Amino acid sequence: MSDRLILKLGGSVITDKSADCAINRDQLASIAGSIARARTAGIAVIHGAGSCGHPEAKRYHLDVGAVTGQTEGIYVTHRAVSRLNDEVVATLREQGVAAIGVHPLHTAIADNGRLVNFECRHLETMLELGMVPVIHGDVVMDLSRGACIVSGDQLVRYLAVGLAISRVGLATDVPGVLDGERVVPEINRDTLPTLRIGNSIHTDVTGGMRGKINELLELSQAGIGSDIFHVSRVADFLAGAAHGGTIVKGMKK
Ligand code: IPE
Repeated sequence: MSDRLILKLGGSVITDKSADCAINRDQLASIAGSIARARTAGIAVIHGAGSCGHPEAKRYHLDVGAVTGQTEGIYVTHRAVSRLNDEVVATLREQGVAAIGVHPLHTAIADNGRLVNFECRHLETMLELGMVPVIHGDVVMDLSRGACIVSGDQLVRYLAVGLAISRVGLATDVPGVLDGERVVPEINRDTLPTLRIGNSIHTDVTGGMRGKINELLELSQAGIGSDIFHVSRVADFLAGAAHGGTIVKGMKK
């Protein structure tokens, strides 16, 4: 099996979610250093929007779609999150990583808020060339609603299958999935209803921690496991070491 990884960076770890598109540059530089030092057969980075896209998506009600004559929000939201993507790519490149930005708006199509297609062949070719594609939660054209927001977590699920990924890691601003104060070491469909999982207080149109877990449980059904951990443990995840967070095991097919 190839040791190809997806590293998902939550919007709250690379931006300050309580401010207006404030990029957390120190955090990004430290993550970029870990990626530059990692020895793997390929990494795709997927990042969220945080304060560079969520407030815009909410202001223009993109969670319910878009109609003729009211498409300003598509442009404004895409521009905000693309600006963040440019910064992530630039920071990775500064550390010698062959990073390149890929925008879902250009390559994906959704229906009723769910991705129905994402061209994976260019990502596959980039990975074969040793490049690190950097993809992000984005506004995407939607066959039923005009437009929708596709979260980084939804992209993780789709692309992990499409790119034959062996391990998925989600770096967050908490040490893992929390039940009260406790980090839940492992989650599956049976244990999920028994957990008290809090919701983020910040602007989030794509479902916070619950939305994330639902995507990962679907991924586990496809046989791919994932790990949720604190951003300070990115290097541990990339090295395949213990990270102190939560594991969602892939179900055997
Ligand atoms: C949202 O992506 C994308 C936009 C609002 C344009 P995510 O839902 O993955 O972002 P975070 O990680 O929650 O900030």
